[in-house]
Amino acid sequence: MLIDNFGRILRNLRISVTHECNYHCVYCHMEGWGVYRHKEFLNANEIRSIAEIAMELGINEFKITGGEPLVRRDIIEIVSSIASLKPKDLSMTTNGYFLHILAEKLVEAGLKRINVSIPSLSREKYRYITGIDSLEIVLDGIKKALDVGLTPLTINIVVLKNINDDEYLEFIKFASRFNGNIKIRFIELEPITIPRNIFSKYYISLETIEKYIESIAVKKYIRDIHARPVYVLYNGIEIELVRWLGNRQFCRNCNRIRLSADGILKPCILARNGIDLKPFLRPTINRDGLREAFFKINALRHPYII
Ligand code: 5AD
Repeated sequence: MLIDNFGRILRNLRISVTHECNYHCVYCHMEGWGVYRHKEFLNANEIRSIAEIAMELGINEFKITGGEPLVRRDIIEIVSSIASLKPKDLSMTTNGYFLHILAEKLVEAGLKRINVSIPSLSREKYRYITGIDSLEIVLDGIKKALDVGLTPLTINIVVLKNINDDEYLEFIKFASRFNGNIKIRFIELEPITIPRNIFSKYYISLETIEKYIESIAVKKYIRDIHARPVYVLYNGIEIELVRWLGNRQFCRNCNRIRLSADGILKPCILARNGIDLKPFLRPTINRDGLREAFFKINALRHPYII
């Protein structure tokens, strides 16, 4: 088990499989990028080897991210190669565009859960925010995902000032139509790798939304990751809030590290430092080298916001 210098146990690895994306969201923080910005993605076998070492070290939750993970042609192979290790959790964050085609194959490959980013339920706003007029396709994908058992499905909504900050009731109503199979997650815009002018144009605190949800919720609990509050409504709908600003426990409760699409292991999305794992993967797999890299990254972990 890996425990860092701040007593935080490492449980979760976010695996970016590409930094390519078919969307152009105004707020995107491009989490798939490594440190060196070259475009040589790891293959399914290399990703599996890294996940295998991670599991030996007690990391048994994996989240596949991008860019947009579903634009990788071998995404099904990647999912099944990680799933074959039988991790406790295997989930994916996607924009949902290809979900209507891939949902069933993803489940068959062993994916357990899915997060779909839907910044608006209005077709026009959705197109404005993402650059693509595809709300209908994504909603269709969500139905397919629910049909094949990818439940509960979480909808991620990055809240943007004067764009979608008035839509929270719509989202709650939307989720209410799915018998508790859809959870909602409102995310405060993070100033990570986005231009300063974009951040100041769109940033809005989630305070108002949280106050409202708190007033109608019947229960509240705190998720261990990032100490995120989750409110439960009378009809069982769960609404999670990801607020980095003012949440002093945000980093204190972090249990994750990241792998970029080009094979850089990073202690945090904010970190500029990382270890390139490719030398331990090519030409052959060097398990000791990989294990050592995990130890080193664990030692580099520290809470950015305290
Ligand atoms: N701030 C907050 N969340 C963001 N995401 C992407 N960029 C930002 C940002 N600047 C969200 C995506 C996705 C999740 C992985 O991160 O919408 O839901």
